[in-house]
Amino acid sequence: MQRSVSHYRNIHSTAALESLGHRVVNNFQAASISSNKLFCSMALARARLPTPKTLLAFTEDSALSSLKSLGYPAVLKPVVGSWGRLSALLKDIDAARAVLEDREYMYPMYQVYYLQEFVKRPPRDIRSFVIGEQTVAAIYRNASSDDWRTNTARGGKAEKCPITSQLDELSLKATKAVGGEIVGVDLMETPDGLVVHEVNNTTEFKNTVPATGVDIPSIIVDYLVSIQKR
Ligand SMILES: Nc1ncnc2c1ncn2[C@@H]1O[C@H](COP(=O)(O)OP(=O)(O)O)[C@@H](O)[C@H]1O
Ligand SMILES: [Mg+2]
Repeated sequence: MQRSVSHYRNIHSTAALESLGHRVVNNFQAASISSNKLFCSMALARARLPTPKTLLAFTEDSALSSLKSLGYPAVLKPVVGSWGRLSALLKDIDAARAVLEDREYMYPMYQVYYLQEFVKRPPRDIRSFVIGEQTVAAIYRNASSDDWRTNTARGGKAEKCPITSQLDELSLKATKAVGGEIVGVDLMETPDGLVVHEVNNTTEFKNTVPATGVDIPSIIVDYLVSIQKR
């Protein structure tokens, strides 16, 4: 089971292990798709899952015209990243210009502009956990008062979330869309139902176990033992 939270170590060690004939959970393909927000959004859209409107641009000018069509506020995210890091809420064109100008001087990955509509959600999102073919737990992540991002790494507070049939169905379909086996699915609540915004291939669970009472590590171990026997 791949547990490295370093993106590059994660996918490269998985690739190396698979090339030596080992079975890795999640496999290289699932890890490559879900650890890149653009590839993940494309997989979700291809599977016809509800997902926030997302545009892709490669220059400052095309990013600004994409933002014009999305409308402000909008969100700019790095294609590779987690814990909410370097995701920016752009409230107007001046904020957009400032962030885009900074990005122009960063590592080339940061000039792949992944731009998304700002979803009108309550100040929380949902993280569900899928192991094998089961949604085993879910939490709301309630935003702290000083950050628009709800990640627990940003002070978001975990609270047990009921696994409704819609949450279960979308979580399983999103997992399948990226080819994952053990993943965390991020969703937001909109007036028209849930949208899935990403799938996480090396999901953490330290806040979810106490909030839900679900023993995620044991379920993971049982799953890994069961697939070894197959
Ligand atoms: N389009 C959006 N509209 C509103 N809030 C968003 C949007 N995208 C992300 N967020 C908020 O930012 C957080 C981090 O975004 P996410 O895409 O999950 O990236 P990360 O990999 O850093 O967790 C989300 O959990 C959510 O609270
Ligand atoms: Mg996330």
